[in-house]
Amino acid sequence: MLSSGPKLLALCSCLSLLVLSHVIEAKKDFKSACSTCKEITDNFEKGYDRTAKQNFGGGNTAWEERKLSKYETSEIRLVEILEGLCESSSFECNRMLEEHEEHFETWWFKRKTKHPDLNKWFCIETIKVCCPKGTFGPDCNACVGGSDRPCHGNGKCDGDGTRGGNGKCSCDLGYEGEFCLDCMDGYFNKEKNDTFSLCSECHSSCKTCTGATHQDCDECKDGWEEDDQEACVDVNECAKEVSPCTEHQYCLNTEGSYSCKTCDKECSGCTGAGPDKCQTCANGYQDTDGTCTDIDECSQPESVCTEENQQCLNTKGSYSCICSIGFEEQDGKCVQMPQPDTEEDSDSSVTNTNQHNEL
Ligand SMILES: *[C@@H]1O[C@H](CO)[C@@H](O)[C@H](O)[C@H]1NC(C)=O
Repeated sequence: MLSSGPKLLALCSCLSLLVLSHVIEAKKDFKSACSTCKEITDNFEKGYDRTAKQNFGGGNTAWEERKLSKYETSEIRLVEILEGLCESSSFECNRMLEEHEEHFETWWFKRKTKHPDLNKWFCIETIKVCCPKGTFGPDCNACVGGSDRPCHGNGKCDGDGTRGGNGKCSCDLGYEGEFCLDCMDGYFNKEKNDTFSLCSECHSSCKTCTGATHQDCDECKDGWEEDDQEACVDVNECAKEVSPCTEHQYCLNTEGSYSCKTCDKECSGCTGAGPDKCQTCANGYQDTDGTCTDIDECSQPESVCTEENQQCLNTKGSYSCICSIGFEEQDGKCVQMPQPDTEEDSDSSVTNTNQHNEL
């Protein structure tokens, strides 16, 4: 008995949660019910047009004319139209159609002339899953900003045109506030009164602004700073005393930012792209008229490949010592290759022994 209090409480809150989730579910359902209904009435219109064309060929006799004009308003035509209203896979559509089929008969035979707008008559007034444009919710109340121009034309009203939603605005890009009359940061009011607002984008240098140019900024964006005329200008990050890039990169300034690019392989440190922008040349390269070029280690007066029967092969930034033709590498030495029985071309007999890096 003692513990029944908390249990009851838990049960109650659980129940109310259940009810709440049903309410939320129902609200969502109203929105989708309205779009299902719209799908049905749109398809009805298409079916109406289709059956009209289908039955009016040329050269009808008077008898046919009479028959056709009867077909025009006949049950047969209605059934033909009804058959094309829902995709067989659309559960919601078929459910709604089944539930309200008699309304279509009523409308077809009795209401069509007085209420030609089927969507309005069926979805809004009869089965009440939709509301007129600019209104929302169970009672079709006006959206925030009024039903004529919901959200003052700068946003979307939640539940607009359905029996669901809360009528609040989600504003278009550039607008904010309950009524979508205020401008977001990065936008300024070009025109504004109590019911109308036009927001336009600031210059790319402004975080906030009062006009369109870089002189109209209230505050500069990151990467921009105010000059003496109070205009926002690009910060040249690359001109700073300490480069924002690493040793083997050069700095490239851009509007509002910068980037770091890797130096050419000929360089050890550089001020830009290319072997002529090196601070110093990388190992294996030398400065030739301001451009870093490969050193040909093999043509230096003092031979770099000192083992017997070796020859030197220059590479970019380095060189290799390889065995001469007719010799192959064995245990770090170049030894004579065994002579084949028949003479062969011996291009393949050149084999690498050691890769060297100049110090
Ligand atoms: C507000 O401005 C718009 C657009 O300029 C104009 O059509 C409207 O009449 C104005 N409303 C008021 C209350 O001044």
